[in-house]
Amino acid sequence: MTSMLTDRDLELVLQTVQRLTGIRFRSDQTDAIRATILRVMDRVEVRSPVQFARLIEHDQQIYHELVEEITVGETYFFREPKHFEFVRRRVIPELRMRRGDQTMLHAWSAACASGEEAYSLAIVCEETHQPASILGTDISREAIANAREATYRRWSFRGEAMSHVGPYVTQCDNDCLRLNPLIRKRVQFAQLNLASDGYPSGASRTQNLDLIFCRNVLIYFDASTNAAIADRLFRCLRPGGWLVTASGDPILSDMADFVPTMTEFGSFYQRRLTLLPDMKSAKADPSAAPRLTNKAKREPPPPPQPASSTPRGSDSIVRQIQALSRSDQEAALEVCSTAVEKNPLVAELHFLQAKLLLTTGSPTGAFLAVQRALFLDRSAIMVHFLCGSIQHKRGQLDAARKHFFNARELCQRIPPDQMVPYSDRATATQIIADVNACLARIDQ
Ligand SMILES: C[S@@+](CC[C@H](N)C(=O)[O-])C[C@H]1O[C@@H](n2cnc3c(N)ncnc32)[C@H](O)[C@@H]1O
Repeated sequence: MTSMLTDRDLELVLQTVQRLTGIRFRSDQTDAIRATILRVMDRVEVRSPVQFARLIEHDQQIYHELVEEITVGETYFFREPKHFEFVRRRVIPELRMRRGDQTMLHAWSAACASGEEAYSLAIVCEETHQPASILGTDISREAIANAREATYRRWSFRGEAMSHVGPYVTQCDNDCLRLNPLIRKRVQFAQLNLASDGYPSGASRTQNLDLIFCRNVLIYFDASTNAAIADRLFRCLRPGGWLVTASGDPILSDMADFVPTMTEFGSFYQRRLTLLPDMKSAKADPSAAPRLTNKAKREPPPPPQPASSTPRGSDSIVRQIQALSRSDQEAALEVCSTAVEKNPLVAELHFLQAKLLLTTGSPTGAFLAVQRALFLDRSAIMVHFLCGSIQHKRGQLDAARKHFFNARELCQRIPPDQMVPYSDRATATQIIADVNACLARIDQ
């Protein structure tokens, strides 16, 4: 039996542990961690601390023997309930506004322990009818195995948890509760070390995330490890995505380019909705935008304006969004929504956003966006056309007819072979034919 571990030996082992896992122990934990290391060395029958340090680096079995001993897997369902309220009231509605009602929420519970946090997120998504793909990861193999098992003692449901989880569990023989498949199937688990540089990556499914919960783990790391983790987590998020940490966790605002939201129940960090480089020159130029006067609301619509009435620079972003929408409509919608936020006076961006919201399954969002486009540019033929299509879809047939008539009337005021602004290079004649077809469908 190994009975001694000098301070130097202990330091050597702990340095290796910190390099591999990020975990650093406080001085008041020295006795406890010394005893733990001696216990593991005995179990794996290694007497030399130097050899043990080498083995935890190169022998996966021994590394995990130690990891299981030094990690603290304390967790429970709906821990810090306000964080889940934040997801329900802010993260999900915001996501739907940007990408449409049917969009998939990509979430990650990083350092999920035995899975309660990841499953709590799955329950929020179930309750809000939010399609979701949720990843739970932890450094501990044992924790991941338990998470996949999804069977919990009553202690995991302390506090308010049972009121949320109750409908989704079934009693097992041994006074445990097992989560139902409905919730289990929403979450995938994998082992992942936050102190490694294995993320963001496609292989670990940690790219383009909308939400990361990384709670009650950063307290085990030092500032430089946390800075590296904050930077990697930031890069895992899509623009507009959120990182949620626990109320007792270190503040990360200065460690990556987050926009922090400080509340009395914790700090949340959002990845900024960024502009594509070209948009910098397209910042809303009020002098170039149509004037908003009461006149704009009167019928008939004003004469059509050439497409060049949009602010300089926005043509390029419009083209980028159109090109992107051919391969990835959700990504195009995200870029478009960012552009709209930064350039609220560019009618064509609202028009594109409406088109993308309609095709990605959010008719209500599309309706609101096309109304904004119309308000900004009542002379845009294609805005009336789209408005007609959306109103038709919503069953508002009179409103749909009115917009199709407007589109046709505006087309008739320009030469038949002139290209219609905001259209896919269609001429006035072609748009009139499309309008007539739509009107015929309404009256069928
Ligand atoms: C206290 S639990 C937090 C569980 C959950 N996030 C919560 O807040 O309830 C801390 C978890 O962090 C994990 N952990 C520690 N170091 C880690 C690392 N380097 N990478 C990933 N997980 C780690 C532990 O295994 C443990 O399951």
